[in-house]
Amino acid sequence: MIGATEHPGSGEKRSAAGETVVVYGVGGVGINAVQGARCAGAARIVAVDPVRFKLDLAEQLGATHTFTDAAEAHAFVVESTWGRLADVAICTVGVMDAEVMNQAVNITGKRGRVVLTAMGKADDPHIVLPGGPLLIFQRRIQGVLCGNTNPLYDIPRLLRLYRMGEIKLDELITRRYRLDQINEGYQDLLDGKNMRGVIIDED
Ligand SMILES: NC(=O)c1ccc[n+]([C@@H]2O[C@H](COP(=O)([O-])OP(=O)(O)OC[C@H]3O[C@@H](n4cnc5c(N)ncnc54)[C@H](O)[C@@H]3O)[C@@H](O)[C@H]2O)c1
Repeated sequence: MIGATEHPGSGEKRSAAGETVVVYGVGGVGINAVQGARCAGAARIVAVDPVRFKLDLAEQLGATHTFTDAAEAHAFVVESTWGRLADVAICTVGVMDAEVMNQAVNITGKRGRVVLTAMGKADDPHIVLPGGPLLIFQRRIQGVLCGNTNPLYDIPRLLRLYRMGEIKLDELITRRYRLDQINEGYQDLLDGKNMRGVIIDED
């Protein structure tokens, strides 16, 4: 999602400067959506996550406003955009469901884009929406795999941004585990204790 308005190789529209972007779920993937929105020049970057320490890191990496409660985030976006609502809502929660999808769709304004990155349960139809508002607002829903990247172009560019200090990766590692601590790592992941836990056997 990092970029100017035109994505090389795809001709596709990406985030533009001055936009309002809302990210639902700032775990390992969503925190990078926050960084991408910052690099793209978003004016307001609103992060929503029930876990406070993840929001604290999101603020350090570019979120301008953070909320543990989606209804409060919605009220803020209505107020701060004078009812025009967000340009982009990005869904990066751990498990996608219809509630988050409706929050994301309802927070986007005219011709707003809803980006679906998070996976849902296979047997849960997590896109259940009234069609009328979708039509009236001319909203779009975009599924995204691996950031919708063109690896030949984007990976060198992301590495350049990392080397320039524009995107932070080391800061995302909450804890390192040895291989024999892997179960502890999974438990910490499930308990919401890590932004990113990594297994590095340094001995
Ligand atoms: N499309 C792709 O290419 C791709 C690639 C990798 C991961 N994923 C998917 O992206 C999602 C996120 O992955 P991750 O590794 O960042 O997971 P994660 O567990 O690190 O982060 C998920 C975050 O969502 C938050 N959250 C949970 N419920 C929420 C809610 N209702 N509202 C707001 N926040 C909520 C959690 O507190 C957590 O911080 C997963 O569904 C994963 O399967 C997709």
